Amino acid sequence: MATSVYIHIPFCATKCYYCAFNTYTFHKEQAKAYLHALCTEMELYAPETAPLKTIFIGGGTPSILSANALTQLFTDVHQHFQITPDAEITVECNPGTVDTEKLRVMQDNGVNRLSFGLQAMQDETLKRLGRIHTGAEFLESYRLARENGFENINIDLIFALPDQTMAAWHYTLDEVISLEPTHISAYNLVMEESTPFYEWWQADELYLPSEDTEADMFQYTIETLTAHGYKHYEICNFAKPNREARHNLVYWNNQPCIGLGAGAWGYVNGVRYSNVRGIAPYIKQLSHLNKPIADAECLTGHAEKAETLMLALRKQEGISLDVYQNRFGEDIEVAFGSILKKWADFGLLERTATHFRLTPRGLFLANEVFVELM
Ligand SMILES: C[S@@+](CC[C@H](N)C(=O)[O-])C[C@H]1O[C@@H](n2cnc3c(N)ncnc32)[C@H](O)[C@@H]1O
Ligand code: SF4
Repeated sequence: MATSVYIHIPFCATKCYYCAFNTYTFHKEQAKAYLHALCTEMELYAPETAPLKTIFIGGGTPSILSANALTQLFTDVHQHFQITPDAEITVECNPGTVDTEKLRVMQDNGVNRLSFGLQAMQDETLKRLGRIHTGAEFLESYRLARENGFENINIDLIFALPDQTMAAWHYTLDEVISLEPTHISAYNLVMEESTPFYEWWQADELYLPSEDTEADMFQYTIETLTAHGYKHYEICNFAKPNREARHNLVYWNNQPCIGLGAGAWGYVNGVRYSNVRGIAPYIKQLSHLNKPIADAECLTGHAEKAETLMLALRKQEGISLDVYQNRFGEDIEVAFGSILKKWADFGLLERTATHFRLTPRGLFLANEVFVELM
């Protein structure tokens, strides 16, 4: 049984140049048909859930839906799922797409956490990223959210952007810190194939900061946010005390989560699945009352252990020796003793009394460790 649900809204006003998420240009009629299909998918999965502790409505841009469409979506959610009274319910919002009416609908339906994608504060940079908003529009959306009672807010940022200087990154971080959000996600730019950024980069038309500058930006981020009372609890995530993203912790703890929507993935009853990505095939599958699954694999044995270890190492606390022992009925060193020793000898991993975790140096080279676990 799953106690977490992710709902994917695969629509955006336009596509940002760096983004490879499964999103399409927003069309009102298509969104209506999509929400109808989503409701059917909720019905198909409802029996596999216990009262929900976390719900994450992500995208894409969920906040691009009208207040009426959002009302419909929440009506469907409340109709199909039981929700615990203290559940964390998050909605991803893009600056420039929220208004008081939409925020009220979210409040009235128990949403208690918002996540804004800002990426950078400078208008020139936002334009080069293909974002639809300015820094001032972000500030206005953030103010509106606060005014409408949202106090648990995450802000997404990206560093190591084309031509980004350290000073520019400092400015973005300082501005965001001054707003006192409860949570900040700071990602380094990933060059995703199939994006305009990737194409321009291949054509030498786009210049990225060096690896050293990128590492300096990451180091600065950790030091600055920690100094301002944010706990660096996962490689890219920082939270004020007790404000860690509970939904994301479900992923990093490799616990069940039902994924709904086009291209969404889920993990339930030991099976990891991903849905068809296109809107039309997604709607078609559900019109026949079929789960719109494109791929599914049973995650058992060594694969489940490796995935659990890899995901848990993303957290600052690392993997709990007890949790691993209870889940798999063996000491973690039975399956991973030699690999853990190797990375400990390289100074990338360390063992505490209760956990294995990445060292501060290991945080910068986490992918090297993860690749070997895959
Ligand atoms: C699923 S996206 C949706 C957020 C929301 N639509 C927005 O952009 O405002 C979540 C976050 O992923 C990050 N992201 C997307 N593509 C990325 C990339 N290529 N490299 C690094 N971070 C990326 C951005 O920070 C983005 O806000
Ligand atoms: S970053 Fe957000 S707004 Fe931009 S295309 Fe991706 S999902 Fe849409």
